[in-house]
Amino acid sequence: MDLEQYLYPMENYNFESVIACIQNRRSTLPVQFKEGKIPKEILTSVLESVRYAPTHKRTEPWRFVLFQDQSKQDLAEFFYLDYQKQTKQELQTEEKKLKSGEKVLQSAAVMAICVHRSPAEQIPEWEETAAVACAVENFWLSLTAMGLAGYWSSPGARNSFISYFNLNAEWECLGFFYLGWPVDGLGPKERSRKPLEEIVIWK
Ligand SMILES: Cc1cc2nc3c(=O)[nH]c(=O)nc-3n(C[C@H](O)[C@H](O)[C@H](O)COP(=O)(O)O)c2cc1C
Repeated sequence: MDLEQYLYPMENYNFESVIACIQNRRSTLPVQFKEGKIPKEILTSVLESVRYAPTHKRTEPWRFVLFQDQSKQDLAEFFYLDYQKQTKQELQTEEKKLKSGEKVLQSAAVMAICVHRSPAEQIPEWEETAAVACAVENFWLSLTAMGLAGYWSSPGARNSFISYFNLNAEWECLGFFYLGWPVDGLGPKERSRKPLEEIVIWK
């Protein structure tokens, strides 16, 4: 079949490079980051993509809190205190205490992923959460295209993030996105994905 004819309305896009970007997106842990800040212009360009995610009733429920430079210390301290609060005293170890904020400090930036629930709009919670996940995927693909890397982490500490940082009580934190420049030569990641036959029913 000649795919070209179907690509006509999308002639401004390169299907192959879009697909390659989707397939090369990967979770990269902060230990795999090298030193280096992310210039604000780059981060802003990547962030722009979140605004174009789909959203039911156009509530645009995604909210983000960015930690860079000095403010990473505040976030690391939050994880440190949360570990102490959530872990029974007898189970706490000095090593884990110190490790609690380590990923933050290894990253060039950390972005808290939040959702603003809109009770007045009567949008089901799952739809608002799904819209935020779409926005995060936009962000993830854009940073992949920019040569950056990162991953979405959803620790229990997300439950106390909003109140600790005095943010809007209608927000819920869905996790943290750690980002940075990947070390050279990471190479392709082992991909174990279910084949289409297992996940699609053709009627
Ligand atoms: C909503 C969500 C939450 C996630 N939370 C975590 C997490 O807490 N810890 C973690 O190691 N990875 C987390 N991940 C990343 C997944 O583990 C990762 O996407 C999966 O292993 C597939 O790898 P890939 O992203 O490289 O394709 C999360 C991903 C999503 C979408």
